[in-house]
Amino acid sequence: MAVASESVPRHIAIVMDGNGRWASKRFLPRIAGHKQGVDVLKRTVRTCVLRGVQVLTVFAFSSENWKRPADEVAGLMEILVVALSRELNQLKQDGVHLQFIGSREGLSDRVQQSLLNAERETAENRTLTLNVCFNYGGRWDLVHAARTLAAAGAEITEASLSAELSTASTGDPDLVVRTGGEMRLSNFLLWQAAYSELYFCDVLWPDFDEGALDRAIQAYAGRERRFGMTSEQLPGAGNTAT
Ligand code: FPP
Repeated sequence: MAVASESVPRHIAIVMDGNGRWASKRFLPRIAGHKQGVDVLKRTVRTCVLRGVQVLTVFAFSSENWKRPADEVAGLMEILVVALSRELNQLKQDGVHLQFIGSREGLSDRVQQSLLNAERETAENRTLTLNVCFNYGGRWDLVHAARTLAAAGAEITEASLSAELSTASTGDPDLVVRTGGEMRLSNFLLWQAAYSELYFCDVLWPDFDEGALDRAIQAYAGRERRFGMTSEQLPGAGNTAT
């Protein structure tokens, strides 16, 4: 069922969970699940453009994912570099602006170059911003922002801290989706998700298709966002057509 454009979230953030389980169920190495996950991400970007979503933020590699087996970590780095070189032209044509969010520390020169190149090549695009959280953690983001303010001797307020977070240019997510059946944030956008609508589904990320995304958007459209107010106080409440 189509959702009216004003009810489509401006900014969707996704924890793309379940790649490993998807692969294990097929007796494949975990990395096969991550590869399938890239294809699903590609299709999700396209669907978001079609639905009028302006920002998509995805959790691709967390600060904690370094603890995974070395071959899986190396595989994820390789998938990122290969996907960027393969998909960059299409992303440019589709008007996608890529931003990588997270610490560059610990990433090889090759990976860093590939991220910088993709950011530079898509910097002028305006149809959709794709924030790829890579070597990212919500706590890292907050500490980094607080340190920047402290070093500048700046006042720490909600506004000044928000402005130093890695997502400052794209704002807070309206909807946070987590696939794969777990119900936690896992250090994703801790500050930014303060008033986000949360949506959890059992679908494993490699199976997350257009219908699954539409169900999440549909669920969002049915929510009432009150930001601490009562229903009656919301703009438009009790208004009668005149
Ligand atoms: C969580 O699933 C997924 C990740 C840690 C990686 C997410 C990466 C992708 C979807 C590929 C896109 C990536 C890039 C580099 C653009 P899991 O492995 O924890 O799954 P499990 O819970 O079933 O084990």
